[in-house]
Amino acid sequence: MLRDTYGRVATDLRVSLTDRCNLRCTYCMPEEGLQWLGKPELLTDDEIVRLVRLAVTELGVTDVRFTGGEPLLRPGLTGIVERCAALAPRPKLSLTTNGIGLERTAPALKAAGLDRVNVSLDTLRADVFHRLTRRRRHGDVLRGLAAARAAGLEPVKVNSVLMSGFNEDEAPDLLAWAVAEGYELRFIEQMPLDPQHGWQRDGMITAGDILASLRTRFTLTPEGETERGSAPAERWLVDGGPARVGVIASVTRPFCRACDRTRLTADGQVRNCLFAREETDLRAALRSGAPDEEVARLWREAMWGKKAGAGLDDPSFVQPDRPMSAIGG
Ligand code: 5AD
Ligand code: SF4
Repeated sequence: MLRDTYGRVATDLRVSLTDRCNLRCTYCMPEEGLQWLGKPELLTDDEIVRLVRLAVTELGVTDVRFTGGEPLLRPGLTGIVERCAALAPRPKLSLTTNGIGLERTAPALKAAGLDRVNVSLDTLRADVFHRLTRRRRHGDVLRGLAAARAAGLEPVKVNSVLMSGFNEDEAPDLLAWAVAEGYELRFIEQMPLDPQHGWQRDGMITAGDILASLRTRFTLTPEGETERGSAPAERWLVDGGPARVGVIASVTRPFCRACDRTRLTADGQVRNCLFAREETDLRAALRSGAPDEEVARLWREAMWGKKAGAGLDDPSFVQPDRPMSAIGG
């Protein structure tokens, strides 16, 4: 098991498959992109499958989520999913994607064994999408979402980040749309993970703001604290249900105490927290011929040292060196 000194056990593994992306969301990447990892630095498909197998068979991981950058840009994605779905015990498999390309790949991913997708979409307005992501791909995302639903990658979840000057007034419209389309919407507070280090606590749209805005049009009833479990989203029934909306208050109500995550970057580093400032190099271990037990030991050790919390609201908080796209959401 992947335990830490605070008694938490990590069962949810997030694997970043690439640091590249075909969008340039302002809160995540600069216009010109970043210095991408080179092919030799990236884990190979075999290395990824080996680490996932180890996590599932030796370390108690039950849920595996593929992230990026944009994971659909990884050529071997379908094969990786298929091989992970063949593991025993079979982990639950999901994907966090910007949706571009899903229109084409959703059926093959479902057939390979993918269970669910989370699609990031912050706005229903094509012009705002363009300003926010610096690309004209709004239609691709909407079609990708529909394809995921048609392929049965359900429940299809939509992640939205609200930012002042872009989409701060869109919460009710996004929710009305998601309810009509049958997607489960979750708002995520913007976290200090932008490469420009431009995040400011004061400018942030908080969970409180989002809920107040939603309540101008909907009746929200809490699903209850017990339902939250280790899931970071606090959920509300919309107009009595069954539709729900989630709010992930990563900054104003952090869920570190219940965190059950362990992360693997595309270049094979274990991170015990999104905001960790230290990493453990599993790639070097793999490539120097370390046996499974040794790799598992390094992974356990990396998690054992996990801090109590990220302390985003603390003045002493220091942003990690890697931006979100290089860590994996
Ligand atoms: N704060 C909050 N969410 C972010 N995401 C990317 N960067 C940030 C950030 N700084 C979201 C994306 C996607 C998921 C992987 O994380 O919108 O939904
Ligand atoms: Fe790409 Fe996701 Fe970053 Fe946007 S938030 S640039 S979609 S990795």
